[in-house]
Amino acid sequence: MDTIESVIRRMTRLAVEHDAVNLSQGFTDEPPLFDLVWAAVVALLGGDDDQMDRLGTSTLRELVPGAEPTALLDRPLKEVLAGLQGRPDRLNQYSFPFGLTELREAIADYTERLYGWRPDPQTEVTVTLGATEALASVLAGVCAAGDRVIVPQPYHEMYPSQAAIFRLEPEYVTLVEQASAGVWELDRDEWAGAAARGARALILNTPHNPTGKVFSADDLAWIADLAARHDLLVITDEIYEHIVFDGHRHESLAALPGMRARTLVVNSISKTGNATGWRVGWVIAPAAHTRSIRAFHDTMVIQAPTPLQRAAVALLRLDPGVYDGLRTAYARKRDTLVPALRRAGFEVSPPEGAYYLFARYRGVPAIGDRSPMAAALHLIEEVGVASVPGDTFYATGTARDQYLRFAFCRSLPTLEEAAHRLATLDP
Ligand SMILES: Cc1ncc(COP(=O)(O)O)c(C=O)c1O
Repeated sequence: MDTIESVIRRMTRLAVEHDAVNLSQGFTDEPPLFDLVWAAVVALLGGDDDQMDRLGTSTLRELVPGAEPTALLDRPLKEVLAGLQGRPDRLNQYSFPFGLTELREAIADYTERLYGWRPDPQTEVTVTLGATEALASVLAGVCAAGDRVIVPQPYHEMYPSQAAIFRLEPEYVTLVEQASAGVWELDRDEWAGAAARGARALILNTPHNPTGKVFSADDLAWIADLAARHDLLVITDEIYEHIVFDGHRHESLAALPGMRARTLVVNSISKTGNATGWRVGWVIAPAAHTRSIRAFHDTMVIQAPTPLQRAAVALLRLDPGVYDGLRTAYARKRDTLVPALRRAGFEVSPPEGAYYLFARYRGVPAIGDRSPMAAALHLIEEVGVASVPGDTFYATGTARDQYLRFAFCRSLPTLEEAAHRLATLDP
């Protein structure tokens, strides 16, 4: 690592400094689902489960006995809530390091409901500080210094950064854009060659940041076969599992025959719950690996925040219909930004999933002859839109100099403002 500041977080800092619409870092400006917020509020007030249930189902009249209803209207909200604080308290304290029992049960049920297989919450599920700590605990738990790890590029920058921290040797393989077909494909010969040279694990992110590729059932079957032939573990980062478009479906690699024993699922509520700041995620791994993953997790962070874990249960137990709303909203956002970029001269394969546009910028007259960083800086300073230079997502190859990444997870008015500003680039 040649810098201690992540490029993505640097672009966010510059966006703030220049009052640019920030489409760099992948977080939304929309609030979390209210069911999730409410569950956190009652967990923070709640004391224990009984008190949480009471707060969740009672009216104010029932909760503040003896209060004159009209007088209640004039009482400051803070004072009313202070009176509702539960004692004794369980939900704001240290809890079981590997995750609240009720959350691990909810993760197991959720996995079964969505993908048809149920991990054992006792021995296979560990709650973490987001997918970021989930990945760190997995790499620390299952890899040893010097192990090779196959990392498809373009990649999320935390994969090589974490590999460096744990002294692992990343072996980069490629996703190649077939621009005429508007899709990203794996270079299977290259991937097979990397696996044949021997590696401990492959890190697979689907739906994929930054390209928007959703690995197909055929891709996953091929990867499963590759993993079995070369005795590879596969670490699947599935945090965009619900953000898929145009009939694409996120499939669970672990559900394929023989793959549970070699798949380690990394996931979180960050993207599904619009709650990137909560830092609640999880790992699902075979029991033998879970032991070492938990040892690292317990030593480094002890646990994820207890009240937010309790709230995450509410998210995972929501009717799956909620995810349809998520998909529809993101499809509309994607369809706002894609034409704006194309009008300005960017070329972009419409993403099948996740919420990024990985756009080729060399055809945009104002920035086409600049390096990715210089192009991104021009967009921030002169156009007022922040993106991420594409070379952040590559270690090798020439594709690294072709792209800028735009996140379309912001609210629609924010994206419309970005589209309006991008129009100043129109040839
Ligand atoms: C592919 C991918 N994995 C992991 C993360 C981080 O997830 P979390 O907030 O759960 O740590 C991100 C965030 O943008 C991401 O894009």
